[in-house]
Amino acid sequence: MTIHISPNPEKVAQDFASYFSEWVKDKPRAHLALSGGSTPKVLFRHWADQYSEKIDWEKIHFFWGDERCVPPDHEESNFRMANELLLKPLGIPEGHIHRIRGEAAPEAEAERYGQVLKQHLPARRNLPAFDIVLLGMGEDGHTASIFPNQMELLTESAPCAVATHPETGQQRITLTGPVLNNASEVVFLVTGPGKAEKVKEIIENGAHSLRYPAAHVAPKEGKLQWYLDEAAALSVGR
Ligand code: 6PG
Repeated sequence: MTIHISPNPEKVAQDFASYFSEWVKDKPRAHLALSGGSTPKVLFRHWADQYSEKIDWEKIHFFWGDERCVPPDHEESNFRMANELLLKPLGIPEGHIHRIRGEAAPEAEAERYGQVLKQHLPARRNLPAFDIVLLGMGEDGHTASIFPNQMELLTESAPCAVATHPETGQQRITLTGPVLNNASEVVFLVTGPGKAEKVKEIIENGAHSLRYPAAHVAPKEGKLQWYLDEAAALSVGR
């Protein structure tokens, strides 16, 4: 586990973008799973503003770690957010964008997206293998859409599953634990003071850390990185 601490969310985005730019340079093709929510917006804007010419975006295929079961033009759609801030500005070809269809029947879409992953990604240990999975973490320690009251999704054999947000009841499609941990690299981007206590608990393997889904995400044979701002890393190491 490698921890990167930057002064603020903009610098987190800059630091990860710089890492990613080096990482992708020697890759003929890359399969990237995007996280949702608000944290990645800073990164997507930064990529679109500063890296349109610095990265050969043609070789990258975009997937998602999870999606809300809403239409693609809905304000809560993770696809819509990425499309507006990153994919459209960079002119990513449609054939490289593999969105989860939030408008579809959830169970059928979880099945379909699992097939999409098997079709496009190389297999490792009989599971689709991403090159990089970007993840966020909620203040309750959830990641992707694996929530603390649905820990069984961490060991679910299917690559994708239907989840339910514990407060809103909103249905989600999420990658499951084994696929997340089958990636070559997992990168958590976590900012803000509201997450500091869980970040510390997880990074320092605290007594309660295993209550939080994010604590169970670590590639079996790969690299785990946390990119944090100072507010989220407030108590780490103290
Ligand atoms: C989602 C995300 C989710 C997110 C965390 C953090 O669909 O909401 O995939 O896992 O990463 O909830 O969200 P914020 O970045 O908005 O704090």
